[in-house]
Amino acid sequence: MLEQLQTILSEATTEISKANTLDELNNLKVSLLGKKGRLTLTAAGMKDLSNEERPLAGKKLNETRSEITQNLEEKINSLQEIEDSKKVLSLDVTLPGHSTTLIGRHPISQMLDDSVKALRRMGFSLASGPEIETEWHCFDALNTPQDHPARNESDTFYFEDGNLLRTHTSTIQIRTMEKNHPPVRIIAPGAAYRRDEIDATHLSQFNQLEGLYVDQNVSLADLKGTLEFLLQAIFGKETPIRFRPHFFPFTEPSFEIDILLEAEGKKSKWIEIAGCGMVDPDVFNQICKVRGDEAYSPKKVSGFAFGLGLERLAMIKWGISDIRHLIENDMRFLEQF
Ligand code: DAH
Repeated sequence: MLEQLQTILSEATTEISKANTLDELNNLKVSLLGKKGRLTLTAAGMKDLSNEERPLAGKKLNETRSEITQNLEEKINSLQEIEDSKKVLSLDVTLPGHSTTLIGRHPISQMLDDSVKALRRMGFSLASGPEIETEWHCFDALNTPQDHPARNESDTFYFEDGNLLRTHTSTIQIRTMEKNHPPVRIIAPGAAYRRDEIDATHLSQFNQLEGLYVDQNVSLADLKGTLEFLLQAIFGKETPIRFRPHFFPFTEPSFEIDILLEAEGKKSKWIEIAGCGMVDPDVFNQICKVRGDEAYSPKKVSGFAFGLGLERLAMIKWGISDIRHLIENDMRFLEQF
């Protein structure tokens, strides 16, 4: 047995050193160490040995097996290294690589980031709310009468259960005040939906940014200062801004904000970019009713709110003539930003 093992080891050593390919080495591994391999078959003879012979034969068997295994592994590794380096050498590093096109951020993302950054500096924090809303959050709580045109089925997407796709992000004002004690100072960007025909200036899904600040003694001067800071951060310090009286059911007084657009060679014109106002006492009263406390009593707090359309801001900032470009993912358009 000991001699047999010695023969197997010396034969194996020669065969391994002669092998030139990984395939040959794998075959050798099977023919030596596999189930029907030479070493395995020899080991089967252990049971015929006497009790005295067996320990020595067992030791020699283990040594032979580990030596053969080690030889095989060393040879496999060195052949593998040679094959790998051949592959690397045949690589033509002068071939052009696969290029990836890097383009800027989408105009809506840029508008969003710029607005959030400016408002954060003034202490506003982010809030959010669901896009599927109750009629109460979207209209009633915001003091919108039953016969208001926005509540029409032709203007708003209603579900069969009476819920709807929010028509504006002002719903988040209500959700914030329901849950949080004043003072609150939040901005809430998000999608809004209207049943509009899609054309150059309308989409049925678009993005708004809502703001709300409620505390003791919040005044119209705070509203004006905040929005001027925000709009100048977006459009530049020199941009003229005006507040024009308007009506919204949920603010009193209410304003629309215009900025003066001055394009070279063209007559400058004011364009509307946001709605805002002082939170209507009726909205505060509704909130007191659902909260069951007087935290938002109009006798104690006041506040301002505003809403901007992000598509509109982007269109003005970059002179985009058709709102549909913003959702078509046409690279020729996107590459410009
Ligand atoms: N929700 C209004 C709209 O979608 C915009 C708006 C106007 C929001 C005045 C406000 C606000 O918070 O005070 O047209």
